[in-house]
Amino acid sequence: MNRWWTRVLCGLMSICFLAAPAAHGQQKPAARPFDLIEWNGGKFIYGADYYPEAWPESQWEKDAIMMQEAGFNFVRLGEFAWVKMEPQEGKFDFAWLDRALKVLNAHGIRAVLGTPTASPPAWLYAKYPDIAVMDANGVRYRYGSRRNYCLHNPDFRAATARIVTAMAEHYKDHPGVMGWQIDNELSDPKCYDPISQVAFQAWCQRKYHTLDALNADWGTIFWGHTYYDWREIPLPWNTLFSTYNPSLVLDFDRFQSDSTHEYLDFQAAILRKIAPHQALTENEMGMFQETDWYDLNRSLDFVSWDNYPMMQKDLTQYTLAGLAHDVMRGSKDNQNFMMMEQEGGLGGWATYIGHQAAPALYRVWAYQSVAHGADGICYFRWRTSRYGTEQYWEGILDQDSYRNSRYFTVAQTGKELVQLTPLLHGSKVVSPVALLNSPDSRWALQNQPGVEDFQYDQQLQDFYDAFRRAGVNVDVAFPPSDLSAYRIVVAPALFVSDQALVDKLTAYVKNGGTLILTFRSGVKDEYNVVTDRTLPGPFADLAGVAIHEFDPQMNEEQELAGLGDARFPTRCWSDILDPATAKVVATYGKGYYAGKAAITVNNAGKGSVYYVGTESKSSLFYDRLISLVAKKSLVALSGNIPPGVEVAVRQKAGKRIIFVLNYTGANQTVPLDQSYQNALTGRMETMDVQIPAYEVKVLTEQAVAIVSP
Ligand code: GLA
Ligand code: GLA
Repeated sequence: MNRWWTRVLCGLMSICFLAAPAAHGQQKPAARPFDLIEWNGGKFIYGADYYPEAWPESQWEKDAIMMQEAGFNFVRLGEFAWVKMEPQEGKFDFAWLDRALKVLNAHGIRAVLGTPTASPPAWLYAKYPDIAVMDANGVRYRYGSRRNYCLHNPDFRAATARIVTAMAEHYKDHPGVMGWQIDNELSDPKCYDPISQVAFQAWCQRKYHTLDALNADWGTIFWGHTYYDWREIPLPWNTLFSTYNPSLVLDFDRFQSDSTHEYLDFQAAILRKIAPHQALTENEMGMFQETDWYDLNRSLDFVSWDNYPMMQKDLTQYTLAGLAHDVMRGSKDNQNFMMMEQEGGLGGWATYIGHQAAPALYRVWAYQSVAHGADGICYFRWRTSRYGTEQYWEGILDQDSYRNSRYFTVAQTGKELVQLTPLLHGSKVVSPVALLNSPDSRWALQNQPGVEDFQYDQQLQDFYDAFRRAGVNVDVAFPPSDLSAYRIVVAPALFVSDQALVDKLTAYVKNGGTLILTFRSGVKDEYNVVTDRTLPGPFADLAGVAIHEFDPQMNEEQELAGLGDARFPTRCWSDILDPATAKVVATYGKGYYAGKAAITVNNAGKGSVYYVGTESKSSLFYDRLISLVAKKSLVALSGNIPPGVEVAVRQKAGKRIIFVLNYTGANQTVPLDQSYQNALTGRMETMDVQIPAYEVKVLTEQAVAIVSP
């Protein structure tokens, strides 16, 4: 046996915990949602990410006092401090962290500890250089940054087990430790080394059982890529001339997601065994969806994520962060979540990203998190680092610890959240509309967008924005989510689907739901193979249309007629719809298919299906479209919400808690359907709610007891 195979077999044997292909579409929602406020002793979780290891101990007490004054009861600690906790292999030092916790705890501040595996120590790379990632060109990376490890490397697994076990043993009964954040921003990078290849081959074997099945399902006869031995299966390395078989690429994406989940489970199993009473979470990344968050979060008690809205060009465009919040909430069946990194200052590594926002806007973004279901806010970070890559990534405080305007904004928010906690506790986001977010379709379309500027996320965003402009809450569903309660489900570009999802959407419509499908739906089966049925393939009968021709709109010149009197420019793609049982809603305006159907509606069972064959850059196009659909399915829309003002709703015992959030630098007026009580001032607001620049109003349907902070 040659050396290469000895290596990978050893790897294989020591990693009996190889990622298993996820059983997509079969998960059940958790029975009882985790209650974050209860977990924090009845207090809204409020705090910051804190790095005591990087500051003199003489600073800690001063920090804790300032934190307490700002209403903090929480910090996240330790997620990059592996080298300080294990300065030599197997030698541990937690004394410094014990002392830091003691100082913080004495000021009423408890912690979630990060397992520090996102940034392994230099000594580990020196001893085991192959824990570092090998990229798709076969280049092994070297030590120097973070998130540079191979999930299947047995030496990395052993090191992970050692540090996680030691931390869990040390802190399992610590009253100041509430739980654990596993790693940080798990997902990438993908490792293309021989150990990863063997792990992928084993994953394929578990999924397909026989090579005949794999060859048939991947269509490996194309270019004669048939495999006769599992060891022949490649990774999608960089090639000279072409990309890989899309079936292989999608399975590699799923393998990476499953491997990430399995690595999280590897840590979770240690923590659950040693410290079963402490809660588990992960710091996730919203729209960066290289991991199937829904699948991953089945292993966690609650979702946490990191939110940097200030990185947007247009700070009034609140829907970008809004959609990310809703993806994260949807990834755990709409259970309330936590912000583990809420933006506390302007970001930047080599350069600052974006421009400095009015300090008051940090408060508006924090309230946006709450409005979308956050029951905890932890800012990144307490103070800007003096050292390293993130010297420009602002904390609440700058390096000089001066009580700046961000500090006072954060402190004000902290006091208000104490006041609002009885109202917020037990409330959650309820939405009439769901947007279906398909990891398989996202990954498959990333690999084969079809048209250069096609963006899967943009398809979600266009519909999302239209509903939010109309003041309608939107949930984000994943393929396993229960859809039955929604009035409207939008499933944009459902490129890849399996029979379970087709059946679920069919049943949803037949039982009275309204489904919106868009171009590039029903194109591929679950193996990323193109259907041999007429498009939209498995959805053709449901939508009552056939597509015999389509036009990838490279020249961006098409237009659409029929949504009111305006003609809308359309782009990216035109499905030329041939209605069977469907009625035509709108037609194309130009070229050889002028007059042919672009949007149709079909009645199916008790429900209906809209098929939207194209995309527009006009927001009015989506406004018109959703008002047409919503009218039919009776989703009430609010009128006249000014641009740059968000209206978002939580509910408690059937009563609404309305957040009015002004991201603009101007005073605004928001007409509502009735007058509401302001939960912060106790006063009744007029029906035309006046909201000053960069302000927040929290309104309730009923009189609430005002609790003094
Ligand atoms: C060339 C090759 C064919 C096919 C086409 C389209 O003509 O000879 O095999 O690949 O390009 O890509
Ligand atoms: C992410 C990470 C943090 C920090 C910030 C800012 O959110 O989780 O550790 O690096 O970005 O760069």
